[in-house]
Amino acid sequence: MQATAARAPGRGSSREFESTVLAVEPIMGDAILLTVGAPPSLVERLLPGQFFNVACRFPGSFDPLLRRPYSVYRADREKSSLTFLVRPFGRGSAWLAKRAPGETLDMLGPLGNWYAIPPRSQRLLMLAGGVGVAPLVMLSDDAAAQGLDIVFVMGAADEHGLLPASELRGSIEYLVATDDGSRGHRGLATEIISDYVAWADQIYACGPEPMYRTLRAVADPLRIHRRPKVQISVERGMACGLGACLGCVVETRRGMIASCVRGPVFDLDEVVI
Ligand SMILES: Cc1cc2nc3c(=O)[nH]c(=O)nc-3n(C[C@H](O)[C@H](O)[C@H](O)COP(=O)(O)OP(=O)(O)OC[C@H]3O[C@@H](n4cnc5c(N)ncnc54)[C@H](O)[C@@H]3O)c2cc1C
Ligand code: FES
Repeated sequence: MQATAARAPGRGSSREFESTVLAVEPIMGDAILLTVGAPPSLVERLLPGQFFNVACRFPGSFDPLLRRPYSVYRADREKSSLTFLVRPFGRGSAWLAKRAPGETLDMLGPLGNWYAIPPRSQRLLMLAGGVGVAPLVMLSDDAAAQGLDIVFVMGAADEHGLLPASELRGSIEYLVATDDGSRGHRGLATEIISDYVAWADQIYACGPEPMYRTLRAVADPLRIHRRPKVQISVERGMACGLGACLGCVVETRRGMIASCVRGPVFDLDEVVI
């Protein structure tokens, strides 16, 4: 069920392709939205939670050598484009955030598994921490298009780190929390989800690992027979993205698993974090 991209001539992997930067816009804090063109067959089959391993260097350069992983924030199937949310953090992401329309990027993907919406799931709770919001925006786009009920909760350090409500499509209940109280609840996003845990048919989360530990502490006493299920996306360095280097392994109850192939999305009850 893995999506495939068009083969670019002369490239080693069938999922490696060159894309053109179409737009770069500020979005929240110092993060930007980077929109690139992609083969229509790839965009059509892409699923929320999948990611691309992006070469963050100029053509012909090998520095930095390792690609950097980015989840898809939004897929526009009509325009055949993909949008990524990029927060400048270290060398690779700072380079990526400075790209301009017309430049080309070397992409590998789509990679990894995806957030699943099981049949008969009507009520979805989504929990985002910081730039972890990216794959949940694509998930909420797809869920809203299916007429599902969505409560979207986001936490950030301050109001500048929050996704603008206008970015969410459809009628979505959007709740926010900030560490400094500059917008919404003062404190952690996990402190405002209690009322929705039993309401939800599925819970989806993306953010830093401490957020998952707090999510587990808040949600577990409210879940019955481990329902609703909680799907999380883990963040690991993805050197190859193809299951070869084992640099991205995650400890699970079934052993160590390469998160680039059988993740990044895991059942919270399966992972040891
Ligand atoms: C599945 C997934 C999806 C992500 N989606 C987003 C997103 O949507 N938006 C966003 O802003 N961020 C996202 N990230 C995080 C993003 O990939 C990192 O911020 C980025 O890789 C940092 O690279 P850098 O060069 O800026 O930082 P650096 O500080 O240069 O790199 C971070 C550290 O990790 C090491 N490192 C870097 N790449 C690798 C690698 N491939 N293997 C091993 N070590 C490595 C570096 O040597 C350094 O020590 C995602 C991460 C994952 C795993
Ligand atoms: S990144 Fe190499 S095995 Fe996952």
